[in-house]
Amino acid sequence: MDKPKVVLGVSGGIAAYKACELLRRLTESGHDVRVVPTESALHFVGAATWSALSGHPAGSEVWENVHEVPHVRIGQEAQLVVVAPATADMLAKAAHGLADDLLTNTLLTARCPVVFAPAMHTEMWENPATQENVATLRRRGAVVIEPAVGRLTGVDTGKGRLPDPEEIFEVCRRVLARGPQAPDLAGRHVVISAGGTREPLDPVRYLGNRSSGLQGYALARTAVARGARVTLVAANSTLPDPAGADVVQVGTAVQLREAVIKAAADADAVVMAAAVADFRPAQYAAGKIKKRDGQDPEPVALVRNPDVLAELSADRARPGQVVVGFAAETDDVLANGRAKLARKGCDLLVVNEVGERKTFGSTENEAVVLAPDGSETPVPHGPKEALADVVWDLVARRLG
Ligand code: CTP
Repeated sequence: MDKPKVVLGVSGGIAAYKACELLRRLTESGHDVRVVPTESALHFVGAATWSALSGHPAGSEVWENVHEVPHVRIGQEAQLVVVAPATADMLAKAAHGLADDLLTNTLLTARCPVVFAPAMHTEMWENPATQENVATLRRRGAVVIEPAVGRLTGVDTGKGRLPDPEEIFEVCRRVLARGPQAPDLAGRHVVISAGGTREPLDPVRYLGNRSSGLQGYALARTAVARGARVTLVAANSTLPDPAGADVVQVGTAVQLREAVIKAAADADAVVMAAAVADFRPAQYAAGKIKKRDGQDPEPVALVRNPDVLAELSADRARPGQVVVGFAAETDDVLANGRAKLARKGCDLLVVNEVGERKTFGSTENEAVVLAPDGSETPVPHGPKEALADVVWDLVARRLG
């Protein structure tokens, strides 16, 4: 079988060097990659590097190998075009359909999915001109990955960093797997909670649970690939930040509630994949609780935590907002799931059976998605990503 053809567009930013790593990942995973740098990008990384790593010529002009009509053919043949880094200038050109070099011509002729990974200084990213160009590109069906927050060129930090090449590769892999389908969550803001809360007892101890965050992170990654703006509220997860997601780190259930409610204000969908502790210690001991010879420990009194899913469901931040819950059950899985769906008042409940060696920390899952109309969507045993895609299929259908 022919290798899938990918065009890697590189525009002129300091992060161009990171595109070498993205190129490696794409070629090593069996893609035929044609690099199309802009003239400015060649100031940062030379054509020899792109050519040697990709096995193809890597010019920026339409005047080389003219007999092959590269300004049309490269775009036409591609199954994916990814521009990383995409500068403010490149986004502006793409949004306005300019065609003054090989990359902009390629973008105009491509009929396949297009992913932009912008990287620039925070001021340039936040400028209304850039934001309008990004909105235009998204409206036309491109996946524009939100830049990461962190160290920028020079001493400043902020939003504008190119996400890790490995994470951009993950987006590309998913977009390619979806084929020519349009990104059905484009223009949508989705909020996902992931991981497990920890309720402190004293400065060194907490009540926690075994959630790894893998399912919530899989939801975030698949939503980015489907074009959504993603806020990921992550409770105590050590997983790498998914490219394109705004990640808010939290510790306790109360912190998680605050972050989710705030992000949900303008969200089209909220998916509560986090394992939120139902109870927290009534008292927090400011100093470490010490054992005392000959004395039994004091019992730990607990108080209820807010039920975030029930609150979101009862008090929708905007009309038509879709709220999704998860339920981990050990017995009478479906009956308990149905009762929980009714009790929480959400639109969809993903029910899975848990126990030793099941679900927690595993990259695989098996579930049934319940809806209030009585429908059941079984999801066979498989990657957590596949379950995530079923959830987004059902959410997208509800959003219309
Ligand atoms: N959840 C929540 N806030 C809580 C507890 C849970 O938002 N304080 C959310 C979880 O994120 C999940 C869903 O509710 O989406 C199911 O949580 P679960 O703890 O299984 O439900 P409970 O109602 O606590 O049911 P039970 O403990 O009786 O199984």
